[in-house]
Amino acid sequence: MTPEPPVPSNQNLTYLAFANTGHDAAKPRANESIRALPELLCGRYRIDRLLGLGGMGAVYQARDLLREQFGEPEPYVALKVLNEELLAYPDANRLLHREFALLSRLRHQHVVRPLGFEIDPSSERGFLTLELLKGHTLDQLLDEHPEGLPWPALQEVALPLLDALQHAHAQGVLHGDIKPSNVMCSEHGICLFDFGLGSASSKLRRVCGKPLAAWTPRYAAPELFEGASLGCTADIYAVSCLLYQLSRGWLPYRQLNAKQARAMQLQPDVPPGLPRAVWRALRSGLAFEQEKRCSLGELLGTFAAKPRGRWYPRW
Ligand SMILES: Nc1ncnc2c1ncn2[C@@H]1O[C@H](COP(=O)(O)OP(=O)(O)O)[C@@H](O)[C@H]1O
Ligand SMILES: [Mg+2]
Repeated sequence: MTPEPPVPSNQNLTYLAFANTGHDAAKPRANESIRALPELLCGRYRIDRLLGLGGMGAVYQARDLLREQFGEPEPYVALKVLNEELLAYPDANRLLHREFALLSRLRHQHVVRPLGFEIDPSSERGFLTLELLKGHTLDQLLDEHPEGLPWPALQEVALPLLDALQHAHAQGVLHGDIKPSNVMCSEHGICLFDFGLGSASSKLRRVCGKPLAAWTPRYAAPELFEGASLGCTADIYAVSCLLYQLSRGWLPYRQLNAKQARAMQLQPDVPPGLPRAVWRALRSGLAFEQEKRCSLGELLGTFAAKPRGRWYPRW
């Protein structure tokens, strides 16, 4: 497979398609200026340093002065705010609240723990506080392993990640933006975060409002390009892309997205070093047709099983 057509360089960034949301909030507040993020929010959280930037916002390390006052030795939290572009939308705080509402439904050792959602009264900036994760994202792991991870290391990442995603789906929560920068290798193991583009089952949907039509092109299932709403099979496609990337060092269609790859009738190469059964499951997770994709349970089962029979030689 040799992909070549030119593609936008921002294929790893989250693509926000507000026009498709049906959100009345989709009009920026043109004439209002956005106030800078104060150093102290709600008189309680003091911003220490920037931890990371994503397509929707910025995440800072902050000190919780209240907990510090009571002598907590580690009074630090991660504090997420929206970026200026999103802040310009009148209903912006709802986007952050949705992430909080979705995360609040989840309790899993490999999903980030939400602490609170608040609005700073003076700046009117909404923010989310989260457990502070110490470690690095899968982006960095991929940089360190440009040809992919050896099988045992891949298993160590895949099992908790698939388990976390399966838990979310069982609670009616879809992630919507699985990719390396949204998974942390933390001191306590793998941790899935950034449910900002997630969506919920019908009961939760009342709290969360309509999900954003947004995705990251290189991890997006083909049906999303055609305007389908997020479903669990789109998460399965994205996590299969990510697992393929971890095994191989690059994505199934390298720089191309699923829509382009399908138009060119491309097939991903077999990653050397993967047990056969795992490759069969992964290939089915990457199926262009959503009804042909395997379940998360099937992926988990093959990643968990001791490999039998012939291995693809590599390590
Ligand atoms: N709880 C956390 N602890 C430590 N760092 C975090 C945490 N959450 C996010 N980050 C860092 O901030 C970056 C952006 O966060 P993310 O929630 O993905 O924002 P976005 O929705 O804009 O993509 C992440 O890639 C990661 O490096
Ligand atoms: Mg992110």
